[in-house]
Amino acid sequence: MTPQHNVTPATDWWRDAVIYQVYPRSFADANGDGMGDLAGVRSRLPYLRDLGVDAVWLSPFYASPQADAGYDVADYRAIDPMFGTLPDAEAVIRDAHALDLRIIVDLVPNHCSDQHEWFRRGLAEGPGSVLRERFHFRKGRGQNGEEPPNDWESLFGGPAWTRVPDGEWYLHLFAPEQPDFNWDHPAVQDEFRSILRFWLDLGVDGFRVDVAHGLVKAPGLPDMGHGEQLKLLGNQVLPFFDQDGVHDIYRSWRTVLDEYPGERIAVAEAWAPTAERTSLYVRPDELHQAFNFHYLNTGWDAAALREAIDSSLDAMRPVSAPTTWVLSNHDVVRHRTRLGGGLDRARAATLLMLALPGSAYLYQGEELGLPEVTDLPDEVRQDPSFFRDSGQEGLRDGCRVPLPWSGDTTPYGFGDGGSWLPQPDDWAALTVEAQTGDPASTLELYRTALALRRRLPGLGAGDAVEWLDAPDGVLAFRRPGGLICTVNTTEAPAPLPAPGRILLASRQLDAPGADFTLPADTAVWWAE
Ligand code: GLC
Repeated sequence: MTPQHNVTPATDWWRDAVIYQVYPRSFADANGDGMGDLAGVRSRLPYLRDLGVDAVWLSPFYASPQADAGYDVADYRAIDPMFGTLPDAEAVIRDAHALDLRIIVDLVPNHCSDQHEWFRRGLAEGPGSVLRERFHFRKGRGQNGEEPPNDWESLFGGPAWTRVPDGEWYLHLFAPEQPDFNWDHPAVQDEFRSILRFWLDLGVDGFRVDVAHGLVKAPGLPDMGHGEQLKLLGNQVLPFFDQDGVHDIYRSWRTVLDEYPGERIAVAEAWAPTAERTSLYVRPDELHQAFNFHYLNTGWDAAALREAIDSSLDAMRPVSAPTTWVLSNHDVVRHRTRLGGGLDRARAATLLMLALPGSAYLYQGEELGLPEVTDLPDEVRQDPSFFRDSGQEGLRDGCRVPLPWSGDTTPYGFGDGGSWLPQPDDWAALTVEAQTGDPASTLELYRTALALRRRLPGLGAGDAVEWLDAPDGVLAFRRPGGLICTVNTTEAPAPLPAPGRILLASRQLDAPGADFTLPADTAVWWAE
């Protein structure tokens, strides 16, 4: 098959790219079944081009029983019928490239679905099956093997082991429907290199690597030694995360990526204990980027943000990888709600992020200023962690509510058939349609910020920010090309001499006079 690769060739396009995460089930529903799909994504690509992003990362759309919203993959080379067909995926890639957008797909190598052929056959064949060697099957502890093989906890709550009827146990760091692969097995390694090639041949520009820090487990699967609930995007030292052996895998993947024209990339979802450990995933012969969860986990506090920014940049400099920035994704409370300051604070946080060097990740709907939906009734929830003990406190459905596109009533143009999670009744003012053309809207703020970012190449470039003097609770820094960004993280106005002409502000401001004060929860981009 001929690779579809018509996007403008650019060296290091990813180093300062703005990458927009599409969560397909909640983006746009073309066939009216209440669930987003690839045809819906395709129909909205012009919207993403006009928004001004460089690339689109699609969360999983592969064949899956949807025990974890598609992060339980039964067939890595097939599209789930609820999302469409392989030709639909090819059409998304082709149309995106024609619009100069790049496509990054999600790759889930730590685990598959319990409906994956290898697991089903291994289970049926019983103890001693060679297919069981591709997973972590063990005998249990205790007199009759009735205890799990070790004390590992699932990230979703409860033990990380499930016993099958013949008495053996298998490991699943996430839901029981997500058995972990044994990455010491050559068949697993070969299979994933082949899956990479399958999607690269179809023309994708890169991969987001799910749980990239989890593939290799400590030899002998030693106890972790405590029973505290593990958190998604956490930074604990654990015998099943961030083992040195993962780096051999990524070196071998890099050689595959580099065989293809056009700089195909991979971004690691790696929750390592420190920024330095995270930087190892993006050494020059490994992956290209790693998500910066340290930044995402930093509160709205100038000193803490400055520390997070500096330490992130410092950690990446020795490996020459760009730093990334992210405020929201499909696993966390939307930043409008999480940062605790409503829309004003969310908009300020976004302008701060987009003024930093490196690459930024946006999550669908943040450009509309969507809040977390915090009052979903239990009976509509689907996040597997909600149903298992205290795992993740069931928080992940509230950021996955389908997008409002147009109209005054639900499903707000999402599709013709309702929406798989109910949308709030008061989202009419948040639709794309309602915000388009309104200069005060969050959507237009994002459009303007992204357009400016394109016009000012210095903005995403480099690996440093030059900090300027600022009162407590305020950040001020200069970027190459003469842009200054000031951010007030406090709840009171801060006196600050205007450093130039306002390019863009996160809220409506009067023309700055001699006694300018930066309002609470506000960020401003200035031209010197
Ligand atoms: C990642 C995904 C999350 C998923 C988990 C298991 O953290 O972002 O949504 O539940 O991996 O695949």
